[in-house]
Amino acid sequence: MAGSDVDDAGADPSGAAGAGLVVRDLSVGYGPVRALRRVSLDLPDGEVVAVLGANGAGKSTLLRAISRTLSFQGGALASGSVHFAGRRLDTLAPDRVVAAGISHVPEGRQVFARMTVADNLRAGALGSTGSRAAKADALRRVHALFPVLAERGAQRAGLLSGGEQQMLAVGRALMASPRLLLLDEPSLGLAPLMAARIADTIREINAQGTSVLLVEQNAALALRLATRAYVLDVGEVALAGAAAELAASDEVRRRYLGVVDEDAADDASRGLGALPTLPRWVEAGR
Ligand SMILES: Nc1ncnc2c1ncn2[C@@H]1O[C@H](COP(=O)(O)OP(=O)(O)O)[C@@H](O)[C@H]1O
Ligand SMILES: [Mg+2]
Repeated sequence: MAGSDVDDAGADPSGAAGAGLVVRDLSVGYGPVRALRRVSLDLPDGEVVAVLGANGAGKSTLLRAISRTLSFQGGALASGSVHFAGRRLDTLAPDRVVAAGISHVPEGRQVFARMTVADNLRAGALGSTGSRAAKADALRRVHALFPVLAERGAQRAGLLSGGEQQMLAVGRALMASPRLLLLDEPSLGLAPLMAARIADTIREINAQGTSVLLVEQNAALALRLATRAYVLDVGEVALAGAAAELAASDEVRRRYLGVVDEDAADDASRGLGALPTLPRWVEAGR
C-alpha cells in the first residue's frame, strides 16, 4: 500500500478530521481470497455502530483491517483507507493503533488461559501509553464493570466460565483506555442471560464515553444497542442505515432477524415461562 501521510490530518479524504472512525473503499484479501470489496463505514465519536452479516461475510476481516492485525492471519489490504480522529491508521503498526486509542477484542474470547485474571488485565495495559495513574483508573473501571474479575484476580483465566472469559477479554481491552472498542461477536456461544449481561455492559461502556464497533451474528441484540448498522454480504456492504430503521425493515426482519416475528417469539417464550430467547441470525439463502 502506498501512502506515507501517517500524521497528516489533512490527508483525510472525507474532510472529517476529528469525527470518529472513517473507513473508505476498503478491499482486503487473504492470498487469492477476496474477503472485503470497497467497504466504507462511518462511526461518529461516542456512538455504537453494529456490523451484521452471516458467517464468512467479512465482519472479522473488517475489524482486523482497522486494528492492523490482518497480517497475523495471512491477510493484506488491497486498497482503501482508515482514519480515526482525523489520523490515518492504515499505514501504522498494530501497537500504534492501540496507542491511537483503538482496542480490538477478537472473536473467540481469547484470554491467556494459564495466566491469572489479574495478569491478563495487566497484559492489556502493556500497549497503553497512559500514566501509572491512568492504568490504575482503568483497572478500577474494569473491576467496577466486572466485579467477578476482582474477586477472581488470583485465579487462572482458563478456569473462568465462557461468559467470564468474555468479560476478561473485554476488560483486558479496556485496560488500554481506548476511545474506540472493536468487539467481535461478544455474545457468541453464551446463554441468553449471559448475552444480555454482556449487552448491558456494552451499553455502560459506551455511556462512559467509549465508542463501540460491534460485530454480531445476533442481529436483534446488536440492533438494540447500536445507533446505526451495516449489513455485510459476501464482503460488500449490502445495507446501511439507522439501527431502528433497519430493525423495522421487512428485508432485515426476513433475512437477518429470521422468519419468526420477534414479538411473537417473546410472547411464545413468556407463555412457556422461559427466559425470552434472542432471535439468532439466520443465514440467508444458502
Ligand atoms: N485467515 C484466513 N485465511 C484465508 N481466508 C480467510 C481467513 N480468515 C477469513 N477468511 C475468509 O475471508 C472471508 C471473510 O471471513 P471473516 O472475516 O472471518 O467473516 P465473518 O467474520 O463475517 O464470519 C471468508 O470467505 C473466509 O473464509
Ligand atoms: Mg468472524
